Amino acid sequence: MRKINIGLLGCGTVGTGVAKILLEKKDLISSRVGAELKLKYVADLDPARDRGIKFDEGVFTGDAFKVIDDPETDIILEMIGGEKTAKDLILRAIENKKQVVTANKALLASCGNEIFRAAAAKGVDVAYEASVGGCIPIIKTLRESLAGNQVKSMVGILNGTCNYILSKITDDGSRFESALSEAQAKGFAEADPALDIEGLDTAHKLAVLNSIAYGMEINFKDIYIEGISKITPLDIEFAGQFGYRIKLLAISKNRGASVEARVHPTMIPFQNLLSNVNGPLNAITVSGDAVGDILLYGLGAGMMPTASAVISDTVDLARNILSGSVGRIPLLSFRMADIRKISVMPVDEISTHYYFRFAALDRPGVLSKISGILGKYGISLKSVHQKGRKTNGSVPIVMLSHLCKEADVKKALDEISQLDIVSTRPALIRIEDNDQED
Ligand code: HSE
Repeated sequence: MRKINIGLLGCGTVGTGVAKILLEKKDLISSRVGAELKLKYVADLDPARDRGIKFDEGVFTGDAFKVIDDPETDIILEMIGGEKTAKDLILRAIENKKQVVTANKALLASCGNEIFRAAAAKGVDVAYEASVGGCIPIIKTLRESLAGNQVKSMVGILNGTCNYILSKITDDGSRFESALSEAQAKGFAEADPALDIEGLDTAHKLAVLNSIAYGMEINFKDIYIEGISKITPLDIEFAGQFGYRIKLLAISKNRGASVEARVHPTMIPFQNLLSNVNGPLNAITVSGDAVGDILLYGLGAGMMPTASAVISDTVDLARNILSGSVGRIPLLSFRMADIRKISVMPVDEISTHYYFRFAALDRPGVLSKISGILGKYGISLKSVHQKGRKTNGSVPIVMLSHLCKEADVKKALDEISQLDIVSTRPALIRIEDNDQED
């Protein structure tokens, strides 16, 4: 049987899962590929870590460049993470005409255009299913299964750590810090968990999805990003009383000449399937003009689910090598020559529904002052609630708006913040209702 040599770079959480599948499911994979996928090298700087795997003599090395420069290596699996070294390794692998698999969403978000152009020029494949949504086959779905569709929108929960934290606070009353520590202990979080909780990781993933959904260059820097660190248990409780759960969503809408792309905590109604996606699970709804709505759901983080996606890519690339069809599927779903620069709409231009919470003095005339300013900026209210007791002299006043423009909301909240009857900047959470009409 023909042998395809694999060089695994990085044997941390995901890399270890990949090595386990390659070694333990050798026969299953061979019978699916028609070749032996041989784990020829594992490169990592930490040989002492207990991975529960016994590698054959000569497999483990500290020198990743040796793996890439070996003419016998066919496929490189970049599982190192981070940007600088990973980029150097991938570009060198491409230069050496190796096929590449990566799970590195941060790298693709920042340098993907350069990497994919280099790969297309050399005629090699760079596969990246594991970069978005853990085990969920969203890249394959967009590149292959939905090829006959104009994608209209995508709405997803794409960060397992944030979803785990929000679920624990909502359902178990956990504290933010302890939920984050648990997510870290379970291997969901990034090495720097700020990437998770500040929404950057979700935005990295959205930048990749936008590119393959709409045929646009990867554009991370213009995505609006807000993380979950300012979400309070009080807002989670109010959300529940109004029939919503708070989720960190990646939202992308095809606006023709531009794309709406934003990441922020969002209230979604209980009836929305995404509101029932909890813990480390991810899910994404894609709306296409032919297909309607589809929903993909599965574990978005963790060793084995992510490794499953890496193996799927590895099998694809091995099959391409065997059939002489490397490059059969355009790297970013569209031919390189057809990929355009499409702008991301500034967040001020979006329109949506809002939840506002004001900490205001409990006095006559307060409500009318606040609603007067909202009215001045054309913000129409769906409901107003004064909830709970005074804390530090203030009471929470909660308002839900009809559809309104973000720029108007900002102006109104700026003005309301100046009033001496409110004690802090109002809380704002966007609402994604199924029915955005009004
Ligand atoms: N830190 C990421 C998450 C890992 O929590 O979703 C998967 O990309």
